[in-house]
Amino acid sequence: MPRLETGRGVMGKNVVIVGAQWGDEGKGKVVDILSEYADVVVRFQGGNNAGHTILVGEDKIILHLIPSGILHPGKVCVIGNGVVVDPAILIEEIEALEKRGLFHHENLLVSKDAHLIMPYHKKIDNAKERLRGSGRIGTTGRGIGPAYADKVSRCGIKCGDLLREEDFRFKLKTNLLEKNHYLTTIFHEEGYEIHDIYHEYSAYGEKIGRYITDTSVFLNDSIREEKSILFEGAQGTLLDIDHGTYPYVTSSNTVAGQAATGSGIGPTRIDTVIGIAKAYTTRVGEGPFPTELDEEEEAHLREMGGEYGATTGRPRRCGWFDAVSTGYAARVNGMDGLVLTKLDVLDGLKEIKICTAYRYGGELIRNFPTETSILNACEPSYETMEGWLESTQGAKDFSDLPRNAQRYVRRIEELIGVEVVMVSVGAERKEAVMLKNPFC
Ligand code: IMP
Repeated sequence: MPRLETGRGVMGKNVVIVGAQWGDEGKGKVVDILSEYADVVVRFQGGNNAGHTILVGEDKIILHLIPSGILHPGKVCVIGNGVVVDPAILIEEIEALEKRGLFHHENLLVSKDAHLIMPYHKKIDNAKERLRGSGRIGTTGRGIGPAYADKVSRCGIKCGDLLREEDFRFKLKTNLLEKNHYLTTIFHEEGYEIHDIYHEYSAYGEKIGRYITDTSVFLNDSIREEKSILFEGAQGTLLDIDHGTYPYVTSSNTVAGQAATGSGIGPTRIDTVIGIAKAYTTRVGEGPFPTELDEEEEAHLREMGGEYGATTGRPRRCGWFDAVSTGYAARVNGMDGLVLTKLDVLDGLKEIKICTAYRYGGELIRNFPTETSILNACEPSYETMEGWLESTQGAKDFSDLPRNAQRYVRRIEELIGVEVVMVSVGAERKEAVMLKNPFC
């Protein structure tokens, strides 16, 4: 295919962005920077369990569903078939953007095949967590797992069903027969009246019906027209339903392969896969975390990094950079490049540790095991690097970074075997050093 040079890069390049850790790697900012080079931005999995805070002047907007590309005039944002959509949240986001004059109807498309999150999904999510007690997963409580469970059980209701009253009513009725029984007998919760949900969702349908379409057709047409597409992953590789630390994972595939399945394009259409990792590691919710620091030690990273969840406000667990798990993420995503975020959070530390292997059963292992019991028994083996007692902020070029910060980045590159293409050193869009633009 011929590639057309433009002022901004090469047209017709399709780039996938994925989290290389347990989510919250700062993908929102990277997507925001790279959206400038794309014509279309696509979400392909997850739902409103994700969230990133965007600063618009003094104003803070938290987007959970709509890609942040919506803030760039003229970019089309697509919610693909692999996403689960809570229509109330979608409408809230549209209205919040509209109020600030940042929303244009023609720039949002929602796949007719994306499944809906229903009120009973949220109730079941929370009730199941209560029942799990100390074995809870620490879900966001947004109904994500139960919505994907219904999709796989072949009883889910899709966004497209909102466009056909009879289909919607029939599917809702069938679901409620089962869900009400389940809720009342297993969880001793109240069930739902069909009319209540029907009216609520019909009103949603009226508001969002105009955006619902066959987005696979749109995306494939866009590819044919040599448009550039940015596929924006949510959560992170270690939360992937197949490749993550199961069962302490989310309910979708978060890896790069899902960009194709979750948007209705073929994998041959993807040009580049970029992983995003923090310069250290964080995790929200339960589950193994080999490099987690104890409460006292993690306080510095949490406070300096503002490590509190954008969706739930929960404090994030913090630890050192783990080259074992990030190397694994490089492998299962086929990563072509790595973006290292929040390097500035490490400014001023005398020493910085990188986990280069795990000690398990008297051996050193370098391949990431996903089993909870094995991971819990793994002891991180650290390499200690000298920190930099200067600020990285304001760096425009890689050579502007303190010498030891450069060494740290290069060491990570070496350990995981993937080239670093961008380093982020602050919350603002301009506080990033681009070494190689994935769209060029
Ligand atoms: P769920 O996706 O709400 O079912 O939650 C399952 C697990 O994934 C929990 O540990 C959540 O904390 C985690 N999780 C879900 N979404 C995100 C995210 O966007 N960032 C970080 N962790 C997440």
